[in-house]
Amino acid sequence: MHMISSVVASAPGKLMLFGEHAVVYGHPCLVTAVNLRVSVQVTRTNQAQVTITTPTTVEPFSTSVEALVAATTVPDNVKFVALALKKFWEFSDTGFGVEISTGSEFVNASGLGSSSAVTVATITALAAVTGVSLTPTQLFQLSFDTVLAAQQGRASGFDVASAVYGGTIYYQNQGAEIRPVAVKDLPLMIIHSGVKASTPQLVGRVARLQQQYPQHVARIFRGIAALVNDAVPLLEQGDLESLGQLMNFNQGYLNALGVSTGRLDGLVAGTIKYGASGAKISGAGGGDCIIALAAPAAQNKIARFVQQNVGLSRITAEIGAAGARIEPNRTEI
Ligand code: PMV
Repeated sequence: MHMISSVVASAPGKLMLFGEHAVVYGHPCLVTAVNLRVSVQVTRTNQAQVTITTPTTVEPFSTSVEALVAATTVPDNVKFVALALKKFWEFSDTGFGVEISTGSEFVNASGLGSSSAVTVATITALAAVTGVSLTPTQLFQLSFDTVLAAQQGRASGFDVASAVYGGTIYYQNQGAEIRPVAVKDLPLMIIHSGVKASTPQLVGRVARLQQQYPQHVARIFRGIAALVNDAVPLLEQGDLESLGQLMNFNQGYLNALGVSTGRLDGLVAGTIKYGASGAKISGAGGGDCIIALAAPAAQNKIARFVQQNVGLSRITAEIGAAGARIEPNRTEI
């Protein structure tokens, strides 16, 4: 098989700072990219064959271009990459042979946006390897369409925007508004609950609540949106006390929506007890991660609390990481 050309691209994971769930209904949220990246290598070949290798595939997934073009379903463990490839083929009106392999800096870190990152990195690499130049808006739209196809339903796209643009962004209404926020200093601790959550299940639970109690849920969403808007100047000023308080209010709303758990509540309470100025779920809830805002002086005590509790683990990452990019010096994953 002849290799025509090869490109490595990467995209960052994310943390939701404020506004989860309400963002699915068109309200704003604040999301920051983290420096845990997914990398994707795309090698174009001159055979009409597709091979996808990911950290979770035992055997590479292999099929013909023709079969993948016609496929209505793809295996779960290569879903985002395979659907991204199909979207890109549709967009560029071609089908071509490729070998794709993915690698990730995420280890036991569910909830940090690896699905959206792998989607964005795949499309970035596909565009580069075929000489197609995509605007950030096109990259966002193609990637968001892929994620919507993969999840068959409601997704706000905030994680896709974060992977495309990086930094910290204010995101609203399926990407109708995306603007950067200049965050001053945000000493966040990321703590994984040890429980993997199902975003579709939790989004479904909120949808049912919204159908049953539309006015109450609308009020909660408006409350969350107000916190998001009030948090913007506080992030720009680095007002940790007030930001912490807004995080606690946001957590209260998430509790009211029924997406927190006893374990997450205990974790939030524990970090606050040991000195965090605020803490909340980051993402869908049900498990995955919480974030706690804690000045450096308080972080040791909180880290000890995390260590002493079975299943909890601290994830160290920097926020405001760069968005999707080509990695010109890398030739393999
Ligand atoms: O837990 P995650 O990273 O899948 O975040 C889900 C955030 C939601 O607002 C609940 C869903 C969405 O698509 O915005």
